Amino acid sequence: MAAIHVPVLLRETLQALDLSPGLTVVDGTVGGGGHSRHIYPQIQPDGILIGLDRDPRMLQHAATVVPSERSHLCHSSYHELPNVLRELKLDAVDRIVLDLGLSSDQLADRDRGFGFSTTGPLDMRFDVSQGESAAALLARATSEQIATIFHEFGEERFSRQIADQIVRQRRSSPIETASDLVAAIDSALPASIKHEARKAPATRVFQALRIAVNRELEHLQQALQHGLYESLRPGGRLVVITFHSLEDRLVKLAFRDETRWHSLHKKPISPSPQEIRINPRSRSAKLRVAVKQSTVASASPR
Ligand SMILES: C[S@@+](CC[C@H](N)C(=O)[O-])C[C@H]1O[C@@H](n2cnc3c(N)ncnc32)[C@H](O)[C@@H]1O
Repeated sequence: MAAIHVPVLLRETLQALDLSPGLTVVDGTVGGGGHSRHIYPQIQPDGILIGLDRDPRMLQHAATVVPSERSHLCHSSYHELPNVLRELKLDAVDRIVLDLGLSSDQLADRDRGFGFSTTGPLDMRFDVSQGESAAALLARATSEQIATIFHEFGEERFSRQIADQIVRQRRSSPIETASDLVAAIDSALPASIKHEARKAPATRVFQALRIAVNRELEHLQQALQHGLYESLRPGGRLVVITFHSLEDRLVKLAFRDETRWHSLHKKPISPSPQEIRINPRSRSAKLRVAVKQSTVASASPR
């Protein structure tokens, strides 16, 4: 089945990657292959594409659009890239792209609990074989811990009230589905908040929970410091698309280290008004690109 997700900043990503035949490219968040399907032909006849995803269902989507001849689709987190390369017997790669967060296919999947308009179980894990679901986290954590997640990862101003309501509600019935959580958020918000404005706190709370459940910021920071940097050849490029300020800040700070990276633009690249009109999901996207500094004089950029 083909993916419904529309790749964000596609033209800008391909430009930033500066592709040519023979390169080895990692798509660290391959999703449904929206970017990879366009990267693959540009590196042939002898290039290699490595696509990673924590979600096996997304890898199935990617396999329908990325030719298998010179590609490897691997169930792995991008922060574990060095292990993947070791298994593939590759030393280093020329390009890495990350398109962070969640795909529209995951959001639309009723069994995953990513979207607040779904009724399914509140799971939210990209990789359901690992870690704790959002429902398990909300059943176990203290009100303070829950409020901290909503505040830090969602910048939600009613964090404390929503967390208290979750803890009150779970005493009589557990928060097991996306609609249970929506109901808790709704009863915690002051009545003065109008119908349409009530969606914004729900969006922020769902985003915060997803970030916490998947330890997204931890993995990104670790990858920027170690896995991605170590896996890239000197002169190679890292392109990162982020969807909220917490992620973008980590990338911006990492790229500021001029002993490691040469950032190609002062400001991040944003989608055009036309792209935002066609694909509203792209509106908060920011793309940053940096070249890994050549510390060894003989390492020539490719
Ligand atoms: C925005 S989607 C990528 C969409 C893809 N670029 C496309 O256009 O089809 C993000 C993907 O990253 C995956 N993901 C999230 N965190 C990850 C991680 N740490 N390592 C690998 N994949 C991850 C998600 O499962 C999701 O499929």
